[in-house]
Amino acid sequence: MRKKLLGLKFSEFTTNKSFNFNRKKILRVLPEKYLLEAYKVISNWKKYKRTPLINLNILSKRLKINNVFYKDESKRFNLKSFKALGGAYAVEKIAKNRKKIIVSAATAGNHGKSVSWGAKKVGASCKIFISENVSNTRAFEMKKLGADVIRVKGNYEKSLKICKDISKQKGWKIVQDVAWKNYEYIPKLTMAGYSVMIKEISNQTKHYITHVFLQAGVGGMAAGVVCGIAKYFKKIPKIIVIEPEYANCVMQSIKYGSLKKVNIKKQSIMGGMSCAEVSLVPWRILKNAVNNCLSISDKYVPQTLAMLAKKKFSNEKIIAGECSTPGIISVISCCNDPLIKKKLEINEKSNILIIGCEGDTDRTLYNKLYKIGNQKLKNYD
Ligand SMILES: Cc1ncc(COP(=O)(O)O)c(C=O)c1O
Repeated sequence: MRKKLLGLKFSEFTTNKSFNFNRKKILRVLPEKYLLEAYKVISNWKKYKRTPLINLNILSKRLKINNVFYKDESKRFNLKSFKALGGAYAVEKIAKNRKKIIVSAATAGNHGKSVSWGAKKVGASCKIFISENVSNTRAFEMKKLGADVIRVKGNYEKSLKICKDISKQKGWKIVQDVAWKNYEYIPKLTMAGYSVMIKEISNQTKHYITHVFLQAGVGGMAAGVVCGIAKYFKKIPKIIVIEPEYANCVMQSIKYGSLKKVNIKKQSIMGGMSCAEVSLVPWRILKNAVNNCLSISDKYVPQTLAMLAKKKFSNEKIIAGECSTPGIISVISCCNDPLIKKKLEINEKSNILIIGCEGDTDRTLYNKLYKIGNQKLKNYD
């Protein structure tokens, strides 16, 4: 066996000096009634089924860890990502009793798909703004759900600005997964939707989770999961946030103790996570709830995606999109570094949770990455 599994290394690791997990404080930011209502509504949707919690038994054996659990969000309705729990739920809540409503959103892909699906379900019109970085495959998926897709010159931040400006002019209701000053209610609904993952997990295993590795873009998913942990888990695990190395806005903000915008020098192939700024409500939660932050390079994404598909980590084949790979990359990287492994207290008693937040939501990209990854694996054999 190679000493460093697959040669994986994280780019940067930091410890949160302001760590102080406080259930009550967290649930003051996103009150329990939001979480309970989200579960009640979503679990009553037609075709609702909890997503699988897969045991990555081959990986855990190799790393000498008790369990590594993978929450497989590729099976979330037909949308193939956890975002189906957020945007669509928010649309349903705000569309109640309003006949003619036009909703709008800016997106890297998955949130827009969720909003489009939600709008279709309630009979609302839908306008989705995308940046230059969003693929045609993703745009097509949203069009298929009935949305008008508007492409904007520039990056995600630009698409959000234009979405805000045009929506204001036209009176469209913005359903965004990012919070800003005086715009908090709808992003809170999306986070409450994401907490459903933790409600499900709390009934899917009897093991106490000891570590959770959470991907972050603007931090909505990570914060929604943290709220779920505060509400549904008896014991609080260590919480580690993962970001792309050039889009590490949570890490930078944690390091400096206040919100810090990063200048993205290079967009990550993990498109949903390539964000420059932490969202306001998630920040209030993450700033004290996160133990550590990790950043990783894109270069490990293809081989990890291919290994999941080729049953190298589990008995089951897993279709994992680019944003689903960071958890595995991070767990292996931490185990490859004896000091960090010790610091995080990862050992044979650990039950680690990682979120497989999307499947092949962009099939074209998935096929391309799979090919590259498969080739890399041949070099290992
Ligand atoms: C698949 C996937 N994973 C992770 C993220 C990051 O979520 P957040 O921006 O809420 O941190 C996104 C966001 O679009 C995503 O689509």
